[in-house]
Amino acid sequence: MNYGNPLPRLYSEFSSWWPILSAPEDYAEEAAFYRKVIISACSTSPETLLELGCGGGNNASHLKKFFRMTLVDLSPDMLIVSRSLNPECEHIEGDMRTIRLKREFDAVFVHDAIVYMNTEADLQRAIETAFMHCKPGGAALFAPDHIRETFSPSTKYGGHDGKGRSMRYLEWTWDPDPSDSTYIVDFAYLLRDADGEMCCEYDRHVCGLFGRQDWLRMITEAGFQARAIPFEHSKIEPGSCDVFIGVKPRR
Ligand SMILES: C[S@@+](CC[C@H](N)C(=O)[O-])C[C@H]1O[C@@H](n2cnc3c(N)ncnc32)[C@H](O)[C@@H]1O
Repeated sequence: MNYGNPLPRLYSEFSSWWPILSAPEDYAEEAAFYRKVIISACSTSPETLLELGCGGGNNASHLKKFFRMTLVDLSPDMLIVSRSLNPECEHIEGDMRTIRLKREFDAVFVHDAIVYMNTEADLQRAIETAFMHCKPGGAALFAPDHIRETFSPSTKYGGHDGKGRSMRYLEWTWDPDPSDSTYIVDFAYLLRDADGEMCCEYDRHVCGLFGRQDWLRMITEAGFQARAIPFEHSKIEPGSCDVFIGVKPRR
């Protein structure tokens, strides 16, 4: 089933630029944090890990050293990027709201792709998908970029030099309507090819914003035991965001 949200341009026509927008090595510290949280939430040492919304596979490039990973993404173009970085992982095209693999994993991980769940109904569907694919005694980790309580507008820039081409971007995060469940991330991409030709492209990402109690309620309603954990990272101010763990009760 396609719920009709068009993917941002970054995940379709600009997907090949992903590794120089967001380089795998930049994910080492956060992947180590997610690994620690997943292991401590599971009742036995997890071996299999399903990632929903793997994107270009940057987190997976670190986590695959510790888990046997299955990577799901809605975008066939992003799966091409992840397959080339993580050829040893299983890749499957699918929507985290509807995919049913008919298998269970020791743990499930949904990183920033969860922000594309921008209605409560969509977020609930994605959490249910995680529940259905998680073994009893296992856990699911959800890592949104923002929650309602700590959201603040921001402007960032970044980018890298790749082989024969370079990219810089401006990322402008803002919330036009604090009473709804979304915020906006507007991107400007400056793309420079091997001949030095430069073009500028605009891309809007409409992201979901939910309060801590809403997260905990939805994770609980799916059948998990839910808790919030402060995100720890040397470049992030302590207390500026939470991740959410759902532990699936043993049968
Ligand atoms: C920022 S990227 C994820 C990057 C990833 N965290 C990494 O470590 O490289 C977000 C991804 O979410 C995917 N996505 C958005 N909506 C989705 C959905 N409904 N189901 C599965 N993937 C989805 C997009 O296609 C995109 O590849």
